[in-house]
Amino acid sequence: MQSFSMGRSFSLLRRLSSSSFPVTHCGRRAFQTSRSLSRVPDFAFAFDIDGVFLRSAKPIPGAAESLALLKQQGIPFILLTNGGGKHETERVAEISEKLRVPLDPSLIVQSHSPFAELVRGPDEQSSLENKSVLVVGGDGDSCRQVAEKYGFKNVITPGDIFMANPAIWPFSKVFHDYYEQFARPLPNPMDPTDPTKGLKVDAIFVFNDPRDWALDTQVILDFLLSSQGVLGTISDKNGRTDLPNRGFLQDGQPPLYFSNPDLWWAAAYHLPRLGQGGFREALDGTWAAVTGGPSKGAELKKTVIGKPHQGTYEFAENQMRRNRLQAFGPTADTPLRNVYMVGDNPESDIQGANTYRSPHGSKWHSLLVRTGVYNGGDPAWTPESILDDVKKAVEYGLKASQWKV
Ligand code: G3P
Ligand code: MG
Repeated sequence: MQSFSMGRSFSLLRRLSSSSFPVTHCGRRAFQTSRSLSRVPDFAFAFDIDGVFLRSAKPIPGAAESLALLKQQGIPFILLTNGGGKHETERVAEISEKLRVPLDPSLIVQSHSPFAELVRGPDEQSSLENKSVLVVGGDGDSCRQVAEKYGFKNVITPGDIFMANPAIWPFSKVFHDYYEQFARPLPNPMDPTDPTKGLKVDAIFVFNDPRDWALDTQVILDFLLSSQGVLGTISDKNGRTDLPNRGFLQDGQPPLYFSNPDLWWAAAYHLPRLGQGGFREALDGTWAAVTGGPSKGAELKKTVIGKPHQGTYEFAENQMRRNRLQAFGPTADTPLRNVYMVGDNPESDIQGANTYRSPHGSKWHSLLVRTGVYNGGDPAWTPESILDDVKKAVEYGLKASQWKV
């Protein structure tokens, strides 16, 4: 698993996980149960999406019935995915439609959901609301729209930069018509006579899998090697052995955030496909070729959130606790004791559930299903149980919790 600067990312994730991320978008109960609330379950389910409920947007057999049963029984659950690229309201509406189960946006945590907490930091200095942020990944500028719904006010995409100056990456000309559909003028395009007056970016977020790895790699690298995050400049500190990190990232360059560590994920193809972690590893390789990389003392500092990281699980548990409070009221005397994490990827879902230490005392049980990335043999992370599909996993959790349907 990619090591990352735990300090900053952990403080970021710490802040994120204690967040007040919107609970429900329309104020109604997160759970509408058709059953009296006489029994408050002391357990809940956390479900991965890709490879558990859906395989590239197609429902996996048993998925719809499993969710319908939990809704009918009033058993809490949350969808915890390293996927994204759409706003929570849009994604949850899509899943509702495919699985024929009404779902509230408070029931989903996507890879980039925690980034919403960075719009308004604890002080003006750390607040990014009015700063320029580069948002990478996703179809068109769908991720820009998500970021703007989160509250970021100055969102730029690599497509904007390419359309403002196609020479920045000569080989994306073939994608010109694609970028033309959504690119926006830059707030202050590069001035060839004085690059220091060019576009300054204060943070870089990879919201979803990049579609044009080449342009996105070049643009991210340009900002990381720049002076003060100003496009078109090069820091004169780069390569200086008298400075920490050999002078790289020592000159006010923007912090780099990834939302999803997945190297592989289960798409429509019968073999797993490279995920956002593949892009991150490719960028790491390019960084190492350009700077010498960590082996030569030039680390590419980054923050990676998403499963299996502690902060993402804490963020999800806090969301579940807010939903639970709304569903059962403050008087519910039954604490949340057990959470069954159902996933298809040992490196993210199982590792995360196995290593997560809840600050609220809940115990997470990792249940690995065979309908996604995992395709047999000894998984890299040993689950509590391996089951054929999500339906069997729900049955396992109900039985283990002695819940009589
Ligand atoms: O991009 C989505 C992929 O990384 C996996 O998503 O739902 O299996 O966590 P999920
Ligand atoms: Mg999955």
